[in-house]
Amino acid sequence: MLSKSTLAAARRPALIALVAGLTFAAPAFAAGVAGDAHTGRALFLSHCAVCHKANAAGGIKLGDTTSADLQAPGLESQYHENDALIKRAILDGEDEEGGQLDKIMPRWAKKGLTDAQANDIIAYLHTVKTSD
Ligand code: HEC
Repeated sequence: MLSKSTLAAARRPALIALVAGLTFAAPAFAAGVAGDAHTGRALFLSHCAVCHKANAAGGIKLGDTTSADLQAPGLESQYHENDALIKRAILDGEDEEGGQLDKIMPRWAKKGLTDAQANDIIAYLHTVKTSD
């Protein structure tokens, strides 16, 4: 007859597998943002395209500066494949080294863009390739 502790031991592998699965999933979640590219596209077209162009290629002269190319994979490699740094650029206007982007680039956090909306835009930008 199975004792309580035998039953508990029998269930343990499943629990270990579950925990191992969670630990495995966590880094992938941290490295990429959990954004929705479809929503991000709409946000990009309404908030960003005026300066960065609808295809995110940038290159528009604005005063003393020129809008940046936000297409993949260029932006991704410039920001060390790190979505958190891209998000900081969007929300707080800091470049990949922590320096200030030109003031023409809005500081979107101050304009009410949320963290989740920034994630959506980044998810969309990952889909906009240089050849587009
Ligand atoms: C009023 C014009 C304008 C708008 C609107 C604008 N940007 Fe920018 N953005 C710029 C300019 C100009 C730069 C380049 C700044 C620099 O070189 O210092 C820039 C730079 C950036 C960068 C840094 C790129 C790099 O190469 O370092 C990111 C990321 C970015 N913008 C994302 C966005 C997103 C996302 C939106 C919409 C939510 C947006 N921008 C809206 C003008 C704009």
